[in-house]
Amino acid sequence: MCGIIGITSNKPVSSSIINSLKKLEYRGYDSAGIATILDGGINEVKCEGRVKTLENNISKIKMLGTVGIGHVRWATHGAPSTLNAHPHSSESVSVVHNGIIENSTLLKKFLVEKGHKFKSQTDTEVIVHLITEYLKENDLKSSILKMLKKLHGSFALGIIFKDEPDLIIGARRGSPLAVGYGPNENYLGSDSYALKSMTNKISYLNDGEFCILKKNSVEFFDESGNKVNKKILELSSEDTSYDKGDYKHFMAKEIEEQPQTIKNCINEYLDKINKDINLLNFPWNKNEISSVTLIGCGTAYHSCLMAKHWFEQLTKLDVYVDIASEFRYRNNRFKKDNLYIFVSQSGETADTYAALDLCNKNNMKTCSVVNVVESSIARDSNFVLPIHCGPEIGVASTKAFLGQMLVLYIFALKLSYIRKDIDKENYLKKINSLLSLSELVKKSLDTDSQVQSACNSFVDAKGSMFLGRGSSFPIALEGALKLKELAYIHAEGYPAGEMKHGPLALIEDGMPVVVIAPRDDYYNKTISNMQEVIARGAKVLLITNKSTDEVFSENIWQKIEVENTDQDLLPFLITIPLQKLAYHSALKKGYDIDKPRNLAKSVTVE
Ligand code: G6P
Repeated sequence: MCGIIGITSNKPVSSSIINSLKKLEYRGYDSAGIATILDGGINEVKCEGRVKTLENNISKIKMLGTVGIGHVRWATHGAPSTLNAHPHSSESVSVVHNGIIENSTLLKKFLVEKGHKFKSQTDTEVIVHLITEYLKENDLKSSILKMLKKLHGSFALGIIFKDEPDLIIGARRGSPLAVGYGPNENYLGSDSYALKSMTNKISYLNDGEFCILKKNSVEFFDESGNKVNKKILELSSEDTSYDKGDYKHFMAKEIEEQPQTIKNCINEYLDKINKDINLLNFPWNKNEISSVTLIGCGTAYHSCLMAKHWFEQLTKLDVYVDIASEFRYRNNRFKKDNLYIFVSQSGETADTYAALDLCNKNNMKTCSVVNVVESSIARDSNFVLPIHCGPEIGVASTKAFLGQMLVLYIFALKLSYIRKDIDKENYLKKINSLLSLSELVKKSLDTDSQVQSACNSFVDAKGSMFLGRGSSFPIALEGALKLKELAYIHAEGYPAGEMKHGPLALIEDGMPVVVIAPRDDYYNKTISNMQEVIARGAKVLLITNKSTDEVFSENIWQKIEVENTDQDLLPFLITIPLQKLAYHSALKKGYDIDKPRNLAKSVTVE
């Protein structure tokens, strides 16, 4: 998604801006640009495509300005093009923007009537002209305040001015924005990852705030223009590596890192000596919670669905799951004894944040399961359960999915124990199983060659289905999502028992169908559903776990077996071959695996 960088310094800033934009590349974008102030003028370079192209274009000219802003854009208003790329500038002002200005059409009308000429199809350009208009009769701070009051929608902004060669304005409503502090320079960034290579001293703007950055000072203001004092936070020095190592893609690396992901989480939450789970300052007692609602988007939503299964198996709590973009507009019944759990890798997804904000405004108990602990969702939740995965760069989520599931499982298990829904013997048994999970996940990685031979049938297919029941249904959804995202193959995840109510009509000779049937309580039922699709010509790839029992194998096209463990943990092992199926299919088709078309890592617009 879009990304912002701003630097004010005592030396030229363009190469540092380019380096920081490269750090934001993982978010997924379609164009890039940079503007600096030099000799009383705005110096702007933009292009469609990658930061590398921008860097090449800049190398041909001299960009010596000591204050500047940069941007990577993920198109919302107006197609991806050089003209629509940010920054957008007038004679006197240059702006980069993340988010959407909802009343841009009205504002544009007002500005055109005043004689302003627009060059792009973006909503952002109204901001440039509004400030230019207000600067005619107001000082800089009043112009910014007036402009901000006019905007509806969500935004993070970086603004520079022709007549202010040392100054950047940052402003936020809805979209995140961070300020970094350095020696004789200060920084603005849409996420702290992008600033980490320059500084570990960070402050975050709250909703409605704006800031004035100079190379030797930073001031923060609320939406009325009153000064605000800010804490400076020190970011941890861990996880600054964005190196692919020997891997072809970040996704391949992140898939292989999953045994370590599991280990990190287990080390964080399990007391191995006392065989107990430590939820570290969990703020509520068992009588205060009688139900939970899990909320997320995309892959995070699938881990919520998975968690519903575990919460229902392990506890007597009522459990609800919602997609954040639906929840935020629903006429919700807010209940005091409900715990709202927000799941997000980035912690910045706009819809998930809005759902959290809604719960906070209704004084609900809020908890988040995030990877980025400095994120907006983490900061604004009552309680945070980090997944400790390290940076996930590939747009399609892999290790964060396992991390989210693991933290949610550990959480459900601990609640179950606190509430006495599970007895001590079973609790200890499950903890022991958790302790061997990392090794078993590692063995799932060995399915690579089997997956590679299976994916030939998927790459040529018109469409495919992923079927499962119980805990295998969310995994089927996730497997299908991965194949769609990366290999652009139509794939549907479906509850196996529901096929006969419609989708069975889609099955035709040779259609690849993944059937997820571990030896759990649903095994026999799923195998019956598998026979129904085989009878109609489907080419079935069965994913199950090893067992001494005979596996039904007649007419199955291919079978992949993962290790055996506690039923609860089989989804972790089964997810791996599905991630690999999507990866190898995309590789065979020659697609850009870490940056699939039209998608973004961190979706900071509605
Ligand atoms: C985007 C990503 C998905 C991710 C979803 C939610 O769509 O491409 O991989 O699952 O956002 O992101 P979050 O950061 O909230 O987990």
